[in-house]
Amino acid sequence: MITEQLSIAQEPLPSRDSLLNDIFYAGSAAEYKAAVEQAREAVLHFLEHTRRPFSGVKPATIKAAVAAVNLDAPLESYEELMAEVQALYLQHATAFHLPQYIAHLNCPVVIPALAAEVIISAINSSQDTYDQSAGGTFMERRLVDWTCEQLGFGAGGDGIFTGGGSQSNLMGLLLARDHFAMRVHGVNIKREGLPAAALRYRIFVAETAHFSNQKNAALMGLGEQAIVKVKTDQRFRMDAAALEQAIAAELAAGNIPIAVVATAGSTDFGNIDPLQEIAALAAKYRLWMHVDAAYGCGLLLSAKHRALLNGIELADSVTVDYHKSFFQPVSSSAFLVKDKETLKIVQHHADYLNPAEQDYDELPAQINKSVTQSTRRFDALKLWCTLRLTGKEKLGSYTDRMIATTAATAALMEKDEEIELLTHSDIGILVFRFAPGRAGIDVAALNLSIKKSLFFDGTLLVASTKVGGEFYLKFTILNPLTTVADTRDMLKAIKARGYELLSTGRFARKGA
Ligand SMILES: Cc1ncc(COP(=O)(O)O)c(C=O)c1O
Repeated sequence: MITEQLSIAQEPLPSRDSLLNDIFYAGSAAEYKAAVEQAREAVLHFLEHTRRPFSGVKPATIKAAVAAVNLDAPLESYEELMAEVQALYLQHATAFHLPQYIAHLNCPVVIPALAAEVIISAINSSQDTYDQSAGGTFMERRLVDWTCEQLGFGAGGDGIFTGGGSQSNLMGLLLARDHFAMRVHGVNIKREGLPAAALRYRIFVAETAHFSNQKNAALMGLGEQAIVKVKTDQRFRMDAAALEQAIAAELAAGNIPIAVVATAGSTDFGNIDPLQEIAALAAKYRLWMHVDAAYGCGLLLSAKHRALLNGIELADSVTVDYHKSFFQPVSSSAFLVKDKETLKIVQHHADYLNPAEQDYDELPAQINKSVTQSTRRFDALKLWCTLRLTGKEKLGSYTDRMIATTAATAALMEKDEEIELLTHSDIGILVFRFAPGRAGIDVAALNLSIKKSLFFDGTLLVASTKVGGEFYLKFTILNPLTTVADTRDMLKAIKARGYELLSTGRFARKGA
């Protein structure tokens, strides 16, 4: 055994010189420049040549192409590398910047944020401690304070950038759970684990709330059973009267309401739960109020539509996803609290990183506010560059444009007797289906086929969902470049495809 180890140690190591062009350092500047230039060319090629939102590639084809690569046999040059990236990835990448991508909550990105990305990955700061990111620490803090101001949280607020809305929502529920257990059961969950009563903790969300709530409750040891789904009104917003009834029913069953999550901009409808009424009930029953504004946060930018978020300032905590509604590249999200003291519950000290005895006014450490990440990207630089160059007002005008386009598209749908629109949207999401008035058509199967066939020929990427068990198509208008002429064309394409499919005769209902 010992002899074997010695012989390995005697193997010659690769020379230091042979590493020099691979690693980012002063001597590799020319290599870095050439590599980035080729990557930039690949991106420009994507921008200039992508005319459809998707190539339509079938999973089996791309799976085989990826599997065929020998990961243990490195390529010889950046030319070869970029050719491979182009073949496997870029030529099939979904083009979120085209209006014909109208499916999920993915936004086109603003250019100042892309310039920031170049800096972020090369300098590679980590936002956990001051000694890993000095200016970055204060720039992130300044943006957190700025976001708190937009929310109306005042000077007492605090928060942290996270990897996404699901993670920010987790922090909201975690704070709700831990503060409740401390206040009511005198239990410090971080140290002692869950009290027995935690099995009866209940968190109220609208039927239309994001599924991260269930996942987060499961992660937190409360189980998905802790999530109580509250009925919604005709516009699919939480019904405040139903919330109070649900709270009363849980209390009567011996369960323990701890929190309510209001959604400001639901994933399926883009509508906003009644924040003020929910806040009043949260105060009445002493529930933590978290607002999931992952999508709706874009309204903070709009002078015209900001009032839709009135009541958000009453929340204990809020999720905002800059990578949805501030046109930022993934990842860029934040979790904000109204009272900075509440965030201290997540602190954990390690001698090697953030010792307990350190003066954090003198040497700040964002790690003290982070639940799930230690090493953390300086994503805040993207928002910084965006606010400093594009500015809040212009970003707000993007939101205004999308809301106007959505309203005009809803009007088109309503006028069309063959389109069933479920409801209007506060922001930019329309749920509808093509329903030609002929008897005997399986409308759900027809709409599913329309969606699939448009996806696989790459002409139009539309999303879908189920409402009351019924299948619907969904437009998510999160591109300020999309016009009502575009959405009119897309509706035409959907109907035309529907008629083509109907002509195959495959959609007759059984027995019809
Ligand atoms: C309302 C809402 N909350 C949270 C999320 C989760 O955000 P992320 O995908 O950034 O984790 C989404 C995602 O679409 C969402 O629509």
